[in-house]
Amino acid sequence: MPGRVSCLALAVVLACCALPLRGQESPVTYAEVAPIFNQRCVMCHNSAAAMMELSLDSYAGVLKGSSNGPVVAAGDAAGSELVRRITGASQPRMPLTGPPFLSEDEIALVEQWVDGGLLEAVAGGEPVPQVVEAPAAEPELPAPGEAVTYAHVAPIFARRCIKCHAESGLMGGPPEGYLLTSYQAALSAGDRVRIVPGNPDASMVVRRVRGQSSPRMPFDGPPFLSAEEIRVIEDWVAQGAPDAQGQPAAVPAGAKIRIEGLLEPGWRVDGLRLVVTGSTRIDKSPRPGDYVEVRGRLDRNGNVLAERIRPR
Ligand code: HEC
Ligand code: HEC
Repeated sequence: MPGRVSCLALAVVLACCALPLRGQESPVTYAEVAPIFNQRCVMCHNSAAAMMELSLDSYAGVLKGSSNGPVVAAGDAAGSELVRRITGASQPRMPLTGPPFLSEDEIALVEQWVDGGLLEAVAGGEPVPQVVEAPAAEPELPAPGEAVTYAHVAPIFARRCIKCHAESGLMGGPPEGYLLTSYQAALSAGDRVRIVPGNPDASMVVRRVRGQSSPRMPFDGPPFLSAEEIRVIEDWVAQGAPDAQGQPAAVPAGAKIRIEGLLEPGWRVDGLRLVVTGSTRIDKSPRPGDYVEVRGRLDRNGNVLAERIRPR
């Protein structure tokens, strides 16, 4: 009997001590993680265009999960696919536009929210609106003459291009090995360049969305991009293809390039002047009006030094 009393007393003491502690570190609720999702995820995971049918613009959407099923399990952050994607434990790491990925603090907050039981709101607390902010799906595009950064073009790529130009997109691997999932990937000069900072006419990304090089992109168009979206991509490249912070990219001098388009008099391709020298190999005497393929390298200023020109 005395043993039981002291047990009870201990339980009361524990409960007393535990209560104020719980009150101090208030549990993380959906209202705290929703802004992270809205800023970094909703452009690709919204009710209108949901990658893998995963819509992260509402509490119900997060809980519903993807075409594979739930992506969060209450109390089990480490076993939740959503957490595994933001830490990189599952690939491709999210957000697909990273780096930058989420900060350590943001990841910790999401983990605490999942481990804490996926609370929608604290009992008796403020009710949480279904969508905390307007989804970032249709961001306002800069007006002509305004500065354009990667932050403006990334959502266009995300909505219209990444379904294919990703590691595991609709076509399996990325078409032509070209990834549009991050700034580094889009600008990469690895095998050849598709974006020439300062020279939109030499950039295959621009030529493909304009339809100067075929097939026109997006490959599943029409609809193709709007005139305004095309203009914003052109402006971005013309301004040096700056990163999200506004830092322009350097021209990858010496990098390989391949472009296609209509040959015009004076060795131009749709207005782009090629640098043709005695060592340029010209196959099958292409004539103005022919659709040609040009292979070459970039000089320091982003001009195309043609190594080979041939009709296609
Ligand atoms: C640029 C578009 C884009 C952004 C931004 C993005 N995602 Fe994704 N997400 C995708 C694509 C595409 C897939 C499918 C990739 C694959 O094949 O696994 C995907 C898959 C996922 C999956 C896997 C679902 C499953 O069941 O396997 C999760 C979870 C996920 N994303 C969460 C997020 C989170 C959280 C964010 C923000 C931090 C985010 N995503 C941002 C495009 C994006
Ligand atoms: C439905 C899938 C799909 C979508 C969506 C898509 N592409 Fe493509 N993309 C392809 C395929 C397939 C090719 C290869 C076509 C060819 O040249 O025969 C390609 C090729 C390209 C190339 C040429 C790469 C090179 O090495 O020259 C560029 C640039 C490109 N796409 C940019 C884009 C852009 C920008 C978008 C979005 C506005 C986009 N694509 C959307 C499937 C897609």
